[in-house]
Amino acid sequence: MKAIQVGLLGIGTVGTGVFQVLQRNQEEIRRRAGVGIEVRAVAARNLARAQAIVAASPVGAGVKVTADARELIRDPQIDIVVELIGGYDTARTLVLEAIAAGKHVVTANKALLAVHGAEIFAAARAQGVIVAFEAAVAGGIPIIKALREGLTANRIQWIAGIINGTTNFILSEMRDKGLDFDAVLQEAQRLGYAEADPTFDIEGIDAAHKATIMAAIAYGIPVQFDKAYTEGITQLAAQDIRYAEQLGYRIKLLGISKRTDHPDASGKPTGGIELRVHPTLIPAKRLIANVEGAMNAVVVNGDAVGTTLYYGKGAGAEPTASAVVADLVDIVRLRAADPQHHVPYLAFQPDSLSNLPV
Ligand code: HSE
Repeated sequence: MKAIQVGLLGIGTVGTGVFQVLQRNQEEIRRRAGVGIEVRAVAARNLARAQAIVAASPVGAGVKVTADARELIRDPQIDIVVELIGGYDTARTLVLEAIAAGKHVVTANKALLAVHGAEIFAAARAQGVIVAFEAAVAGGIPIIKALREGLTANRIQWIAGIINGTTNFILSEMRDKGLDFDAVLQEAQRLGYAEADPTFDIEGIDAAHKATIMAAIAYGIPVQFDKAYTEGITQLAAQDIRYAEQLGYRIKLLGISKRTDHPDASGKPTGGIELRVHPTLIPAKRLIANVEGAMNAVVVNGDAVGTTLYYGKGAGAEPTASAVVADLVDIVRLRAADPQHHVPYLAFQPDSLSNLPV
């Protein structure tokens, strides 16, 4: 059977990881998807850099590199477009164009989905294509699949997560090494954890994007980033961290969503959803208080399962590529199971709770 053809929009850290994972694990991926998955073309602003990355990949031979993203979107051979550009504007335009061209889309872009998710998922539904986004939240941790699939029998009560590696790295280093904020931020940037605009990390915006996406899935509400209360770590001093330690607490930047009320006697939901990001004091003996460095962890409480914990790398080339490639395999499997494209399965499908106030 002919391999599924993928086009990459952007090829930075994550794109490089996608090449590596597709190459190294090509046999496993072929077996699980039932067909090979190949990158056919890459569109990037920095052509020389993109060409160098593609040339260095053992599966780079024959991959077309272009500066024109639309050439890739229009290519009838391309089945799935992977958006790795980041940011709100260009990414939004290109993702909507790819959907209009009938392509399935995989994106790691949490900002895009948190702000323009309603528009993008409506377009995908109308077009009968899938928009998959496992990589957008907590990198390599399959938290989207856990919320949507593994916990689908549950009424989710709350979610609390360390979902920004940069700020967790900064808080850990400030505590362990007594380093100051700016020095640690520079180190996080050097290691490739921080956003292009690190304000998104340190002001809690990136965590709020991710918390918004998780809340939409968990509670069946529309994506509403503008409703999230967002507070970062810039007001924290080294002495706050020290005092917390002396009192037996750790300070973590948490993304939290929770139901504010329980169902009435008839089972009808009566309350709304809280959605917030802020530094939080956590007793030092709790597992999540001991998540250090750039690692991520998400705790989800469901009425049937109780409390569950997901831990892993939330950023970086291969952890994020792990999620991107998993979405590629998912799309191939779903389309094989539903060739008529009746179920835009991975799109947000606000359910009967969608009128819950946030
Ligand atoms: N800047 C993000 C973080 C990258 O630090 O977690 C992964 O989304």
